[in-house]
Amino acid sequence: MDLSGKHIVLGLTGGIACYKAAELCRALINEGATVQVVMTQAAAEFITPVTMQALSGRTVYDSQWDAREANNMPHINLSREADAILIAPCSADFMAKLLHGRADDLLSLMCLARPIESVPLLLAPAMNREMWAHPATQRNMATLKTDGTKILGVGNGDQACGETGDGRMLEPQELLQDVIAFFHPKVLAGHHVLVTAGPTFEAIDPVRGITNLSSGKMGFAIARAAQEAGAKVTLIAGPVSLPTPRGVMRINVKSAQNMLDATLAHVDAATMFIATAAVADWRPAAQIDRKIKKDASGAVPQLQFVENADILANVAKSPRARSGQLFCVGFAAESHDLLAHATAKRARKGVPVLVGNIGPATFGQDENALLVVDVHGATEIPRNSKLALARTLIQNLAGRLAVQTV
Ligand code: CTP
Repeated sequence: MDLSGKHIVLGLTGGIACYKAAELCRALINEGATVQVVMTQAAAEFITPVTMQALSGRTVYDSQWDAREANNMPHINLSREADAILIAPCSADFMAKLLHGRADDLLSLMCLARPIESVPLLLAPAMNREMWAHPATQRNMATLKTDGTKILGVGNGDQACGETGDGRMLEPQELLQDVIAFFHPKVLAGHHVLVTAGPTFEAIDPVRGITNLSSGKMGFAIARAAQEAGAKVTLIAGPVSLPTPRGVMRINVKSAQNMLDATLAHVDAATMFIATAAVADWRPAAQIDRKIKKDASGAVPQLQFVENADILANVAKSPRARSGQLFCVGFAAESHDLLAHATAKRARKGVPVLVGNIGPATFGQDENALLVVDVHGATEIPRNSKLALARTLIQNLAGRLAVQTV
């Protein structure tokens, strides 16, 4: 569970998005966090403290005059024990209040009284699009950021008022991802990671093609882990239907040639290239733009193939890669003799690190094990979920960057 041991104060202010806070509370708890809900009076007009108490399993606080605390200081006690205060939804009015350091209700009092270095404040704004776009709100947000407040952004879409635009509170699952990411050490801050993922699809004719069993899960997990580690991430994805990790820029491609073109278009901005894609080695030599039909003779089509360009090997030969400005990482999906094949492949591709795994054991699976091969030898990352492996791998790679390129 990604939030085990974390204690979150979940603050609710007035807004229709309070209904989403109920689900957010449950999502945080499902990831192992303990949640203390604090509500403003306006929030209690939208959702009852009873609901939030039932979901959080703790008494909800909504008044600075609450005498249940022995010292009568809920604003001190509740804020001292928190790993973070998350205000979701955060109204425009509450942002304005925070900005001025006002403290006339328990939640704003707690934000002001929190130890600023050890208890971060995260805001999930929720408001009408005109309120969001208003210069006062934008100005307040900019100042809150300079005060060290983390603003988690807003969604775009239909609003309760009937209008459409920016200002919706992010969905509970999106906020959950952002909170999880927030707690990860930013070991790749300032870096730009380019990841290829998934299979490619080589067309035979307009309705058929050749692909492979890669699910893209490992590459997507690596993109997420790199983003959590503070990198800007561009993900070039072959044909898979996985959701795009939060905060990651995704480019969908089909063929190996499309993947090569997209990689070459983005690699100059990158400081790390991680090639997890299972790129097709060959494509049909002829481009056939009409469906191949059976005929009465029973003759089968005779396909000719040509080899696809090796994306990783080409990038690894570039001047930026050779000079250490771009750190290249390859993957190898093998069926046997993993260490020997991965070691040989690392040398053949000309990359500092190559990560080996057993293809049939990983394709489509949620778990895997990795073998990280470099010039000194091999280190195993034992079997775990792909996300856990990706996080360990990113830590490992970030350590190498610190030594080699930054
Ligand atoms: N790769 C690539 N472009 C290709 C083929 C492979 O960028 N045309 C990258 C993969 O993304 C991976 C690494 O090269 O990072 C190794 O891929 P793999 O399919 O295991 O190796 P191949 O080079 O295809 O060798 P072989 O099929 O002989 O195992």
